[in-house]
Amino acid sequence: MAVLPIIIAPDPRLKKKCTPIDRVDDDIATLMADMLETMYLAPGIGLAAPQIGVTKRVIVVDASGKDEDPAPIKMANPEILSASDELWAYEEGCLSLPDHYAEVERPAKITVGYLDESNARQELEAEELLATCIQHEMDHLNGMLFVDHISALKRNMILRKLTKAKKLKAHDAAAD
Ligand code: NI
Repeated sequence: MAVLPIIIAPDPRLKKKCTPIDRVDDDIATLMADMLETMYLAPGIGLAAPQIGVTKRVIVVDASGKDEDPAPIKMANPEILSASDELWAYEEGCLSLPDHYAEVERPAKITVGYLDESNARQELEAEELLATCIQHEMDHLNGMLFVDHISALKRNMILRKLTKAKKLKAHDAAAD
């Protein structure tokens, strides 16, 4: 397994629509395992393939609590089969937007269909944090970030700060 570098916004690679997987073969299963390892190390509770520069419809999540056993879920071609009218609000963050958070409202309960790491068709009912996490990662597959759900004013402020942080980092690296 391998830990992969995570792309930080703003970046055109995070704005691309990802392509579906034909079938989950050994290469995709390895990608899923690498993504999970990258996510745990970060640490984060979800990661989408475009965040490591792969424009394929693959996500990994683990929304288990600190004192619970790990509950990794690997999904290819996830699709929402049903969503509740009831919404749930959560202060979201993203490994591609480090140190920035904003409250986003999404359906509280969803049923999601996907292919697992063995290419088997699965359905999962998720609610609250797990549901939010899956929807957040699925957004990445359509080039959407959590800041696309908030006001343009707040979004631009966050993206400006990230751009500035990138410049500082590049400057520091050049000075070394
Ligand atoms: Ni994210």
